[in-house]
Amino acid sequence: MRNRLLLFLLLALAVSAQTVPGARGGLVVSQERLASEAGAQVLREGGSAVDAAVATAFALAVVHPAAGNLGGGGFLLSRPPAGGPSFVDFRETAPSSAGPRMWLKDGAYDEERHHRSLASVGVPGTVAGLHEAWKREGRLPWGRLLRPAIRLARDGFRLSENQAASLAEQLPEFRKHGPTLAQFSRQGAPLRAGDRLVQRELAGTLARVAKDWTDFYRGETARLLVREMKAHGGLIRSADLRAYRPVERQVLRGSYRGVEVLAAPPPSSGGQVLIEALNILEGYDLKAAGAGSPAAVHLAAEALRRAFADRARFLGDPAFNPDLPLDRLLSKAHGAELRATIRPDRASGSAPDRFTWPRDRPDTTHLSVIDARGGAVSLTYTLEDSYGLKRIVPGAGFLLNNELGDFNAAPGLTDATGLIGTPPNLAGPGKRPLSSMCPVILVRDGAVLLVSGSPGGRSIPSTVLNTVLNVVDFGLAARAAVDAPRFHHQWLPDRLQVEAGLPAATKEALRAMGHDLHEVKQQGCAQVILVRGGRAEGAADTKRWADSGAVAE
Ligand code: DON
Repeated sequence: MRNRLLLFLLLALAVSAQTVPGARGGLVVSQERLASEAGAQVLREGGSAVDAAVATAFALAVVHPAAGNLGGGGFLLSRPPAGGPSFVDFRETAPSSAGPRMWLKDGAYDEERHHRSLASVGVPGTVAGLHEAWKREGRLPWGRLLRPAIRLARDGFRLSENQAASLAEQLPEFRKHGPTLAQFSRQGAPLRAGDRLVQRELAGTLARVAKDWTDFYRGETARLLVREMKAHGGLIRSADLRAYRPVERQVLRGSYRGVEVLAAPPPSSGGQVLIEALNILEGYDLKAAGAGSPAAVHLAAEALRRAFADRARFLGDPAFNPDLPLDRLLSKAHGAELRATIRPDRASGSAPDRFTWPRDRPDTTHLSVIDARGGAVSLTYTLEDSYGLKRIVPGAGFLLNNELGDFNAAPGLTDATGLIGTPPNLAGPGKRPLSSMCPVILVRDGAVLLVSGSPGGRSIPSTVLNTVLNVVDFGLAARAAVDAPRFHHQWLPDRLQVEAGLPAATKEALRAMGHDLHEVKQQGCAQVILVRGGRAEGAADTKRWADSGAVAE
């Protein structure tokens, strides 16, 4: 039995780690094979890319609880086969009692409250956002799309090595909250690979949402969430849930070497950082420099440094920052001005050098879909940390986010320890915290070329930039574009993060140019669909999460 199980796991890994070239009917790429399969089945039944994305996202909430979610938020970028692209912002909002000084206690910054308390929970947007996208572009019945998730939660599924290890790692955190420990362990003992994870309360919530999505905001699920908030010092009340609205926003548009770039607008900084960096890089011949060459990495790092400096200065929820100079930031002229400040042989430095950014913790997850009609969806969503607050809502079985940790600490509180107090991203009632999530779709000659995105906090736009350069400049296939070593620069701290796989000679040359190299095993988890010669290739990222699954229809 044990051997058969092992064989099954090995087989599952082998299948899920593969690239899927030439899928004609459609393709789903996500961080979990079971979730990709749920979406692919929807495509087989004639569902749209949005239908498949919704089914995959609900399934991820069950099989990838680290980041798949009902209790978090995110962004869905869609390019239907006909008509223009659309963008649904279902980022969490701060409750009505929030304010810019909410993370202070007796005048001092309280990190625990900001990142790990029930006060850090934003009003979840995922259910409303997925429903909004489905309302606009869905073809199959809403209830059908939740069916695989309900089954996976109710009947359970066998844990892979990755899933079991991820849950085991969190066990000390889960122990702090009985109902969470009960859901994610075997009476307190770690679940092992091959064990079945059943989530009955989550199945109940999914079933209620399948029948009527407003249950999450006005019904039994809302009641359970508010009860938990009131009992333990959380801030979300019924009125906050009832007031939650996803926002349809104008897609951020850029261009790069004749390819159209469709990306996430504020309250994400993902599109701004990506498009600004691409505008700067358009002035260089990266192809001649070569993928992974010191020159290409240096120039891209310098471009990112500058785009991230603008992010820090200007970006925040657009509803609270009416003067956000997006047109200027995204203009080719601004790109050229910034390019002129880059030295080809020398790192520039990130003065003023007063502070470092706060830490990024995993986790977030991305899924990419293309359907048989050429419609594409790029969706990134998150609970902020891995398993969010690491607390479920008792009776409802879904994990709470700690997304409000993405707000700045407090007015003026910018210091050497990594706190930031610049105005655009201070907390406020109903405000959305600034994000770095960067779902993207590239279009060439009127047809989808690339669908991608990634987790990784502030490194997300850099991971997406790496993928775009790998495809547009270096002409790599999907698998190679995902596997190539990545890098990231975010202005502050002034250091260049590189994946260990970058050639040693490149690392040496970058150090010689004055870059402070920070080596990591891997960065992000990119899920890629690339269309070449009318054929779709899917490549799931297996650097971080070996079970990532690309599923062809
Ligand atoms: O919205 C954001 O940018 C962050 N809350 C995302 C967090 C994240 O990606 C961590 N993942 N690895």
